[in-house]
Order: sequence, then structure tokens, then C-alpha cells
Amino acid sequence: MSDLFDNIIPLDPPFEPMAQGAVLLRGAALPFEKDVLAALNRIVAQSPFRHMVTPGGFTMSVAMTNCGAAGWVTDRSGYRYDRDDPETGRPWPAMPESFHELALSAASLAGYPGFRPDACLINRYEPGARLSLHQDKNERDLTNPIVSVSLGLPAIFQFGGLKRNDPIRKFALRHGDVAVWGGPSRLFYHGVPELKEGMHETVGRMRINLTFRGAL
Ligand code: SIN
Ligand code: FE2
Repeated sequence: MSDLFDNIIPLDPPFEPMAQGAVLLRGAALPFEKDVLAALNRIVAQSPFRHMVTPGGFTMSVAMTNCGAAGWVTDRSGYRYDRDDPETGRPWPAMPESFHELALSAASLAGYPGFRPDACLINRYEPGARLSLHQDKNERDLTNPIVSVSLGLPAIFQFGGLKRNDPIRKFALRHGDVAVWGGPSRLFYHGVPELKEGMHETVGRMRINLTFRGAL
């Protein structure tokens, strides 16, 4: 008699728990990859990547832009969300529908249904770029999760706790992976150490990170 489980092929677990309320969804962005990369090209044609300056006067190694009703910006006067791109003086490009579909799909897989972000921060890491440990806390409504999409070169994701010096766990982020954190881990410290040299077959010599938020 054939066994009921004969046809089940073991897969890598697509859900990797990171902390309470936080999960890594391996490859969850791959079905959206083509549309998202095409839309990204249209966004950066309107609001190009730029290296912003921190309130302390340091130029960030990660280049950034945004799309959506609001964009995250930093300059000498502080961190904030702004409806306009300070470089162009015009509103940030609208959030493409493919971005919405990806954010909604990943958030619901992670247990946060109905996520409709109004901001997407787009980070570009070239080899050597890094993002030091920080909390995402400039958003008004912290009941929304953060949905963070990795495309291109692999990176290490550092995920800590509510306090800067809490122990840190490290996760390898690859092309198509999506990290989602919310609820009890919404304000957990996180960062990305220096990106290693490399070349990705579709994205090139860089890593792109899309971070979706409910900001306004
Ligand atoms: C961020 O914290 O804004 C970006 C995280 C990442 O690049 O994975
Ligand atoms: Fe962040």
C-alpha cells in the first residue's frame, strides 16, 4: 500500500522565526521580482538615490530614495517623514501597485493581514555600505509591522531587542527574502554590517532593500 506521505517533498522551511512577532520569509518576493524591479527603475528616474546626512553630520554610506505618500528623510535638523522629496521639491513618486501587492502578501503571511503601507524607504547598498543598529520609530502608528524586502547581493541582518545592547542574532538575507517584524518586536534594534563585494545576476553590484511602513 502506498504511503500517504510518499509524495511530500521536504522543502527548506520558508518561515524562519526571528523573534516574537518577527519572521523571515525566504523567497517571498520572488513572484513580484520582475514588476518590482521595473517599477523601481521608474521611481529612481523621478527621485534618484542620494546619500543623506545624519543629524550628527555624517553622510550615510547607504543611498536612499522613497515612494509613497511620505518618504523618510534625514538632514542636519533631524529624522522625519516628508510628503515631498527635498531634492526635487516635488511629492515622492506614488507607491506602485506591485509594491503594495508584495507588502500585503508578505505581511499577511507573517500574520499581519490588511497591511496598506503609505511609505516605502528604498535603500541601495554598494559593497562597503552599512547601516548601523537603529530602531524604526519615526512612524506614527506602531501597530503596523515593518516589511523589509531584500533584492540583489546577499547581506547579514542583525536583529537585536528593545535595548541597543541586547544580544543580537544574525540572519543571512538573500535575493527575494522578506523580513517582517511587528507587535512585540516592532521597535527592535536592527542593522546591516558592511556589504561584501559581489555581482548579482539581475541586480548587479548592489543590494536593494525596500522597507514598507505605515508612517502617517
Ligand atoms: C532598514 O533598516 O531601513 C534597512 C534594513 C535592510 O537593509 O535590510
Ligand atoms: Fe530600519
